[in-house]
Amino acid sequence: MKRHLVVYSGAGLSAESGVPTFRTDNGLWENHKIEDVATPAGWKRNPDFVLKFYSDRLDSVRNAQPNAAHKVLAKLENDFDVTHITQNIDDLLERAGATNVIHLHGSLFKRSCQQRNCIYEEDQTEAIRLGDLCPMCNSQIRPSVVWFGEAVDMQRGKLKSLAWKSRSDGIFLVVGTSLKVYPAASIVDIFRSLKTKYIIDPSPIPLDGFKVLAGKAGDILPKLFHA
Ligand code: OAD
Repeated sequence: MKRHLVVYSGAGLSAESGVPTFRTDNGLWENHKIEDVATPAGWKRNPDFVLKFYSDRLDSVRNAQPNAAHKVLAKLENDFDVTHITQNIDDLLERAGATNVIHLHGSLFKRSCQQRNCIYEEDQTEAIRLGDLCPMCNSQIRPSVVWFGEAVDMQRGKLKSLAWKSRSDGIFLVVGTSLKVYPAASIVDIFRSLKTKYIIDPSPIPLDGFKVLAGKAGDILPKLFHA
């Protein structure tokens, strides 16, 4: 049986593909205030603006390519039983070949309904427009991403069972996340009992029991796994 490898990632994993991280010095996301583009209040105030913002993000991710870190992680599926838990809403892991990816904060490539309890969700093929309505309940369609203030499906049962199965010889990697956003950052607690743990980040936050590898994911991961 292959050893388990669990990778918890954030925006830093895609930084070398040219997808900007969130917590830059100016505190803006692509020059916009987070509250304007990633909150239910921002959506209520100006849905057209929010739709344009996500349509631009979709275009820029479509034009980006998986980087060395995505590629090494995908290749590791030959040797490990790999589970990705990512906060990223891009598809660069999948495009590199990763097959088991949980997107905690949703995906730019899915559309859902603004009534969050509605079951409608479909692949995103073209930009969403105001007036595109949910086929189930007739509400406006929106990007299927989690905004600040909205619930995150943490899949705790599934992840705790994975942590239990991998506790003796599993490897846990934390890659390119500031660990500032909860509940997502609590993933670290679920996998704390794994014996081998690394944090990979140019500005790492020291975590008890983790070996710190300070640097870019695209430099560190190939060295760590001799890929
Ligand atoms: P952040 O922007 O908060 O953190 C990015 C992390 O990546 C920082 O610790 C950087 O030092 C690190 N980094 C930068 N370049 C890197 C590289 N080449 N290799 C490795 N690490 C690098 O992004 P997240 O932690 O992902 O949520 O942010 C979490 C959540 O906050 C996002 O999912 C999003 C955001 O607001 C929602 O939209 C709900």
